[in-house]
Parts: sequence; C-alpha cells; structure tokens
Amino acid sequence: MWSGRFREPLHPDFEQWQRSLSFDWRLLPQEIAASKAHARMIAAAGILSGRELEAILSALDSIAAEFAARPPADIWNRAEAEDVHHFVELELQSRIGDTGLKLHTGRSRNEQIATDLRLYVREQGGLLAGRLAAWSRALAAQAARAGEDTMPAYTHLQRAEPVLVAHWLLAYSEMLLRDIARLNDGAARLNCCPLGSGAVAGATLRLDRALAAADLGFRAPTANSMDATGDRDFVLEFLHALTLIALHASRFAEEITLFATAEFGFVDLPESFSTGSSAMPQKKNPDFAELARAKAARIEGAAQAAAMLLKGLPLAYNKDLQEMQIPLFTATEESLRLAELLAAFTAALRFNRERMRAACETGYLNAMAAATYLVHKGLPFRKAHEKIGQAVRYGIERRRELNELTLEELRQFDSGFEADFFSSITPEATVNCHDVIGGTAAARVRQALAEHEDRLLAALGQKAMGQNAIGWNSGNS
Ligand code: ARG
Repeated sequence: MWSGRFREPLHPDFEQWQRSLSFDWRLLPQEIAASKAHARMIAAAGILSGRELEAILSALDSIAAEFAARPPADIWNRAEAEDVHHFVELELQSRIGDTGLKLHTGRSRNEQIATDLRLYVREQGGLLAGRLAAWSRALAAQAARAGEDTMPAYTHLQRAEPVLVAHWLLAYSEMLLRDIARLNDGAARLNCCPLGSGAVAGATLRLDRALAAADLGFRAPTANSMDATGDRDFVLEFLHALTLIALHASRFAEEITLFATAEFGFVDLPESFSTGSSAMPQKKNPDFAELARAKAARIEGAAQAAAMLLKGLPLAYNKDLQEMQIPLFTATEESLRLAELLAAFTAALRFNRERMRAACETGYLNAMAAATYLVHKGLPFRKAHEKIGQAVRYGIERRRELNELTLEELRQFDSGFEADFFSSITPEATVNCHDVIGGTAAARVRQALAEHEDRLLAALGQKAMGQNAIGWNSGNS
C-alpha cells in the first residue's frame, strides 16, 4: 500500500504484529458500505466514469455477498492483507484489475477507519437497544404476572418497607429505559460522516462530502478533518454506555443470586441456567447470574482501555487508535450476548410469592405506615416516629409484631391509637399508602406497567410521546 518510499522490507515479526485484519475483519460490511459511498462521491467529481463506477459497485457487492456466506477465518487468513481496508482493495483488484485501484483516489485509511467505526457503533448500538428492550419486556411480563404480590424492599440490605414485586422488577426496567436512551443519544452525536476528511487536512479533490454522508445515513459531513480523523469520543461514549448496562445487569444478577439463597428463598433458579456441583450433589448454582455479574469487569475494562489510549494522544490519527478496536469489539459482543441471555433468564425466573410475602410480615416493615397513621391523627412525624419506635421496642421484647399488640398496649405510647390502626398497617395498606408518582401503591404500579410499552417505544425512538424517553414530563401538561 505504501512500498514506493521504502527500500527495506518490514521485519517479518513486526509485519505480523502490526496487522489488524485478525480483528478488524468484523468491519467488512461497514468498509464495503463506506467504499460504495466514496465511489459514488468520486464519480460525481468526475474521477470515475459511469462504467468504472458500476464495475466497482458490483465488485464491492460481490465481495460483501461472498464473505457474508463464508467463515470469518477466510477473511483473516488472507496473508497479504494487513487490514480490512487493504483486504477489500486486494479483493477488488483481483476481480476488476486496475479499475479497482481507482477507488482509493481521494481518500485515506484514516478517514475510512473513522467512518467504519461510526457505522459499526451506530449499528451495534441499535441492535443492543433492541435486546435491552426485550429484556425490559421480560421484566414487565414478570411484573404483570406478580400482580399485587409483595416483598421487602431493602436499604442498607436491611428490610425496610414492603413493596410490590412488580415495583422492584420495574425498577430495573427504568434503568434499561435510560440505557436505551443513552445509546440513542450517543448515536445521534456520532452521526456525522468523516469521508472526505483525507488523511488529516481534508480530501485533495473537490468532493461533495454531503453525497457520501447522505448515502450512509449520516446527518451531515463532519466539520473538521483533524477532529474527524483523530476522534474516538464516540467509541468511549459507547463503551461507557455499555459499562452502565453491564453495571445494571450485575446489580440485577447480584440480587437474584442473593434471593436464590436458602436464607432468602425468594426465587427458584431456572435449571436451564444453573449448574450442579461435581462435589456436592444437592447444589444448584446460580452460574448465569454470577457470570452476568462478572461481565461488568471486562466491559468496564474495555472502557478504561479506550480512555487510556486517548489520553495525551496528539492530533490527529495515530496508529495507537487501531488498538481501540479490540476492547470495542469485545465489549460490544459481550454486551449483546449478555442482554439476549438476560431476557431469556428473566422470563424463566419463578418467584416464591409465599416466602416473599412472609418476609414482609415480620420485622416491623409496617413501622413507617404505623407512624404515618399517627401523622394522620395530627402528630408531627418526628413524634410519631418516636412513639412507633417505642412500640416496636416493646414488641421486640415480647416477640410480637405491631399488629399483635392490643389497643391498650399501644395506648401506653399514644392516646391517638384507635381500632382502625390495624387495618392501616396490613401489608396491603402499607404498600398502598405510598400513593405518589413513582410510589409502590398498587394503582401506581398498575399505571407504570400500563405505560411501560409506550415509554419503551419512545426510548427506542419508535414512538413520539409528550414525555421524553425517560418519562419526565417535558411539556406543560
Ligand atoms: N488498520 C488501521 C487502523 O485501524 C487503519 C488506518 C491506518 N492508517 C495509517 N495511517 N496507517 O487504525
């Protein structure tokens, strides 16, 4: 590709070592699409005749079709090619001879890789958003199935208050809505086309860059050739979006792991996602959840590697940037598989409603509701808190829950207790007193569930709403 200036061949080990085809073969579809757009752009500038353009376009299509049907090793084993750009050039030449060489007029691999990577991130981000949507739908389906079943919510990993199981499940769905919106935000920001930026200073031919941009579905050409060829912010943004997704997955996985212990017993692990122990015959291990929890390490590691690669890198293109593809591909492929499996795993979970409910009925989880009862009788919350605290202490000493104390006993702490106290602290009443937007009251959760699909479609950009993707009212309604 550049032998003219050199008299010595490359050291053979170095030659092998600096290649990227072993990983950038993944960019073949993007390389072909960008090459077609470039071919049309230089044809419009008079560099290619109509016949040459046709020959190049159909050869590019045949390369794409041929290698889509062959194993990737057939690409990366092509010994003469150093990277995916070179690979396409060689394939083109072998099909249409010197006409193929004309394609590289007015372009540089620096703008090609910048373009391919933008296309890749845009496509894979869209694919991932779809898989996150499937996971979110699996969570919503479980939430619908859970109905008004209750479970303890924890703070400091101590039982705090009862919530609907559906409310807990939808909390994860909320994270996914943000994740999907974040992927779309990033895709909108990266959606400019580097083609025509040349090696660093802009193409040396007068190209209509808007043609290539439109061809590839980009909003516009990038505005500065040095930035366009040296920029990988969009990779870093994407990897950080993947990190958040992985962190959400790991928090979910951790809760499932915990809830599947004999101590909690809230959930039955699907056998199809668990393994036994070669030593202990009774065991069913939460392997899926454990590995899902672990993936965040690799994905966040990829984001760190990308950040370190960019640190202190002078403008514009540097070969260091080639190295960023490996963490990008690893994290992308891991995230796609993880999201897909999470949807299937979530659908297969079976919750133990009796255990969950029983866990709400002991441990004074209705103490907040009890204090709220006294607030409705006119007490300041601070005072009500203190009085219920005393009642709880009294109950602990006698091993009785608040609803097991008599009115006379309760009246030692405050004269405001009346018979309606007991109906105010049932698990249902305790849940339903949280009747605010975003609260766990059954009616609120029902509404959240009813809105789930529309909000998901809005986050995916498939439906306009009066609310933005994460559901906050943006207008005046
Ligand atoms: N394989 C290279 C990469 O991924 C393509 C760009 C090479 N540019 C260059 N000036 N050597 O970064």
